[in-house]
Amino acid sequence: MNSAPIGIYDSGLGGLSVWREVQRVLPGESLVYLGDGKNCPYGSRSREEIVRLAGQAVAELVARGCKMIVVACNTATAAAIGFLRDQYAPLPIVGMEPAVKPACLATRSGVVGVLATERSLDGDLFRRTARRYGRGIEIVAVPGTGFVELVENNRETTPEAEAVVRRAVEPMLARGADQIVLGCTHYPFLRPVLERIVAGRNVGIIDPSPAVARRVGQLLDRYDLHAEAGHRPVYEFLTFADEQYRLRLEEKVLNVG
Ligand code: DGL
Repeated sequence: MNSAPIGIYDSGLGGLSVWREVQRVLPGESLVYLGDGKNCPYGSRSREEIVRLAGQAVAELVARGCKMIVVACNTATAAAIGFLRDQYAPLPIVGMEPAVKPACLATRSGVVGVLATERSLDGDLFRRTARRYGRGIEIVAVPGTGFVELVENNRETTPEAEAVVRRAVEPMLARGADQIVLGCTHYPFLRPVLERIVAGRNVGIIDPSPAVARRVGQLLDRYDLHAEAGHRPVYEFLTFADEQYRLRLEEKVLNVG
């Protein structure tokens, strides 16, 4: 038993889509969310830079006594998960999986679309997963150019958002994709727009965050790290940006939670 918080980290607001799932699955746990904010977006930064930023963020969460870390950012997972696990062993660190496997299992057309950041798509993790599960399946990977900025600026329900998402998704639909993977934790905030675009086409949208939250629960079981019975969960929000941004994290999670 351990009532210390679970630390959840992203480049910005996106990881709140994971926060929401972790809170739903594990309502007895205290959570500290760190949304960098100052250096967001990460998506087209170099791998070395992302490793440095992720190292800083996880150091902050460790200093706050977190018993486990969730890297709620596909880009930081792709660039830095190995480094972080080496650096902080034996602290359990959960990363994001590009949900290529469930998409490949679910497809009927044999074509799967993957939306993610540039850095996630050119990383080994994506390439390996695609090779492993995508045999005989066409994977149409498209960077969600401009998606993170839409979410960070609260513009995810605007006509501009619809145009930006449509531009990325159309090539997938044109190839016959019947599954679309949300390979960046910011993208679930654009799901309503995406659903409008694919309406009537019988396309599945796959968000890995519920599976990541279940994985967190399994690791709490395995290492006997669940909060004590009667523990009153505390939710804290941190950022490397300013107080205004920190308040936006709280506000956003109340709106989605
Ligand atoms: N939310 C992040 C991800 O899952 C990072 C987006 C970004 O900062 O570019 O990839």
